[in-house]
Amino acid sequence: MGGGLSRHGLAAAVSEAGGLGTIAVGGAEAIRRELAAARDLTGRPLAVNLLLPFARRGWFEAAGEADVVVTFWGRPRRRTPGVWLHQCGSVAEAREAQSAGADGVIVQGVEAGGHVRGTVPALELLERARAALPADYPLLLAGGIAEAGDVRAALEAGATAAVAGTRFLLAEESRAHPAYRERLVAAGETILTDLFGAAWPAPHRVVPNAATERWLGGVRPFRGISPGKDERRLVRAPGANRALNHLLAPGARYTPPSLQLGMMRRQRPGSRLLTPAGPTDDGPATLVDACALYAGETVARIGDVRPAAAIVRDLSG
Ligand SMILES: Cc1cc2nc3c(=O)[nH]c(=O)nc-3n(C[C@H](O)[C@H](O)[C@H](O)COP(=O)(O)O)c2cc1C
Repeated sequence: MGGGLSRHGLAAAVSEAGGLGTIAVGGAEAIRRELAAARDLTGRPLAVNLLLPFARRGWFEAAGEADVVVTFWGRPRRRTPGVWLHQCGSVAEAREAQSAGADGVIVQGVEAGGHVRGTVPALELLERARAALPADYPLLLAGGIAEAGDVRAALEAGATAAVAGTRFLLAEESRAHPAYRERLVAAGETILTDLFGAAWPAPHRVVPNAATERWLGGVRPFRGISPGKDERRLVRAPGANRALNHLLAPGARYTPPSLQLGMMRRQRPGSRLLTPAGPTDDGPATLVDACALYAGETVARIGDVRPAAAIVRDLSG
């Protein structure tokens, strides 16, 4: 979980408990620092996640020191010599990653939290990808994993492993702001939107807050007659917001992190430019109404914050 939501504490706790913890921070120096801090806490394998639209050469070198590198969003290409997984939203993308030499792919369903590449439910994409790729090719499933039964269903459907984000956002070790976690624990619905698209105009799943209320007119897509179906419809930001996001996107990659951070801290629910950064515990609580409160559909089934080790134990059934 990017933007520093998943750092060494969470990753190490997940790995130590028998999962594969993933660090997601920007910049070569931060990746090295977080990986070293996680290595101090666990001797077990660790992963580093890189978002391809933003990652630069030095980031790949630093990430290559992890046991697994996971990439997302962009043309899959082997950039590190070790174990490499690419998260995909379609069969075509999974095939492309396999051809590019990925050691496995994560198939992401539309129900997932954070940025959403998938357009169909995870189990459906898994079935299609299984049919299209060699029988022994590792396929991991992301989206809809919050309880042991979800993991079992994924494995029974042919997944090599299950990937969970939202459930670990609500782990004690995650760096989500406490006020963000409170909103998530209370949430029962999510919106798939492109609202928080400054620098990265890509669909993402969030829980409603003042910013979504202001710009999306308080849509309540989930509390309808057909929950799943409505919740999977992309609710677009107003045209002017989208135009601005697209205009600024090409330069965003080269915006210094300090400037991005300044922009994020100044943003208000009424700002037309809303950055993709999520509220972390080292920022002000007011950001919970101005930033993206990323969460997957499973948020409706999660009602507590627990230690990561307990979550791994529960998911393992
Ligand atoms: C808060 C949050 C941040 C995320 N950030 C990233 C990211 O930086 N890179 C990435 O590959 N996936 C990211 N994801 C997506 C996850 O890899 C995964 O697809 C998703 O969490 C699965 O759905 P779930 O949240 O319902 O478990 C994020 C998800 C969440 C909830």
